[in-house]
Amino acid sequence: MKKILFFTSILFAITAYATPATQLHQQAVASAHPAATQAGLSVLNQGGNAFDAAIAVSAALAVVEPFGSGLGGGGFWLLHRQHDGKQVMIDGREVAPLAATRDMYLDSQGEPIKNASVDGALAAGIPGLPAALDHLAKHYGVLALSDSLQPAIKLAKDGFLVNEHYQRLAKFRQAVLASNDSAKAIFLSDGKVPALGTNIIQNDLANTLQLLATQGFDGFYSGELADKLVKGVQQAGGIWTKEDLARYTVKERLPVVAHYKNIKVTSAALPSSGGLVLSIALNILEQYDLSTMDEATRIHVVVEAMKRAYRDRALHMGDSDFVSVPVSELSEKSYAHTISKDLRLDEVTPSQHISGLNEIEGHDTTHFSVIDKRGNRVAATLSINYPFGSGFVPQGTGVLLNDEMDDFSIKPGTPNVYGLVGGEANAIAAGKRMLSSMSPTFIETEEKVGVLGTPGGSRIISMVLLGILDAEQGHSPESWVNLPRYHHQYLPDVIQHEPDTFKAETLLELTEKGHKLKSVGRHYGNMHAVLWDKKSNKLVAASDRRGSGAAIVESVPLSTAK
Ligand code: GLY
Repeated sequence: MKKILFFTSILFAITAYATPATQLHQQAVASAHPAATQAGLSVLNQGGNAFDAAIAVSAALAVVEPFGSGLGGGGFWLLHRQHDGKQVMIDGREVAPLAATRDMYLDSQGEPIKNASVDGALAAGIPGLPAALDHLAKHYGVLALSDSLQPAIKLAKDGFLVNEHYQRLAKFRQAVLASNDSAKAIFLSDGKVPALGTNIIQNDLANTLQLLATQGFDGFYSGELADKLVKGVQQAGGIWTKEDLARYTVKERLPVVAHYKNIKVTSAALPSSGGLVLSIALNILEQYDLSTMDEATRIHVVVEAMKRAYRDRALHMGDSDFVSVPVSELSEKSYAHTISKDLRLDEVTPSQHISGLNEIEGHDTTHFSVIDKRGNRVAATLSINYPFGSGFVPQGTGVLLNDEMDDFSIKPGTPNVYGLVGGEANAIAAGKRMLSSMSPTFIETEEKVGVLGTPGGSRIISMVLLGILDAEQGHSPESWVNLPRYHHQYLPDVIQHEPDTFKAETLLELTEKGHKLKSVGRHYGNMHAVLWDKKSNKLVAASDRRGSGAAIVESVPLSTAK
């Protein structure tokens, strides 16, 4: 691997990168859909800041990427406010309904009921995304929520065109979408996957967005819309009540901060495992000089770090408002040293073996990155979980509900749709947030600031890890987002990889070290990143070529907006 130091100076103080006097003459948005990127830019050009743009992009993605995220789902927005250096994670994760119980997806024999936590109304947690958008507008934006939601409302009324990506995911979820009249009418054509170029108009969703725009939180979580949501869910066998909606609360979390060589890495806090898993893996990897290793040894070491970090995810992590998670112990460098004592350069450390590698594509969920002309920034990863979530739309709402309940450990030791195994810490409980892998992340040195993240279920964290390692080696955002990908999540004990990630000789060497490898058959992830080089005061943005997103940097005059 080429050794060009991207972050040139090694010995920087790693706190306080806020520079209040920042004056960029550019702004950038990178997201998974051109219409969402444009929505963000248009709000910035109306005088909005990065947080207003984040509202616009989140809402636009809810319209044009219905398979990835939406008002019926949740997400995490990692914010940096430049004028005071505040960094916070807005936690708009879904919560389990109050009537949820630990064994609700198990049959009388204690076995998981097939697809019960994945398909239909019972699979849906209480959405957090609408509340989070209201929270962002109230506490961080400079525009009214109604202004930032306008581009999404227009997109919902005017429609968006079906592309191949939509077709592929609609085919994957065709059966469940066809089983619900509202979802079928919106997302399919006569029960079939719509033809390329079909215009998907969502008038009910436009009305729902309008309610949110004019009434904020109450427009979604109480009144007429809440009645429709609850009625629809209950009629379809779900357990939501109006109290669930009324009690939904956005949380502000302190992000997880790790230091890898000279880089400060800031990422998602629990209930996402992203920041902690990244921190454990980076603390292990910091003990090695990856740049001097041959390719197979480097990949082997990275895989062994992933495996150990994901093991801790399975064993210890859950919603820290409900269970005690040893966050500081897990984040210690000394802990990483202890758990990597048995890491050998020539031989694999086996995970306990379980079968059943799951092969979903990693195009569910979505990510976007924003930096505005003041240096405010947002990394946001949003989800309704599986492609098209639960496939269920309560009548008259246009809101496609998530199936995020599957991110709980339905039964300890039983893998979820991502093949992830969880433990007691992530068991279902009323009002609890399910463990996530979403990892919106900032990487910072004195001279550079990167904003990155990706969808991809359990593979999100390993993709972000590879992106950080690539950045440390001096490569550009274009490189971070397009890297060939590999992944190990402890169980199953196998390196999952894209078909063209490894050369034949590297595959052989990894096999000789004792690794099992499995191509996932296609590309996965859809990373979007922005880099700010403070020295040249220039932005660079990049969108993963696996997707059909848009990364745009624009020149702008300065204003007095924060
Ligand atoms: N539903 C994907 C995640 O939160 O990790």
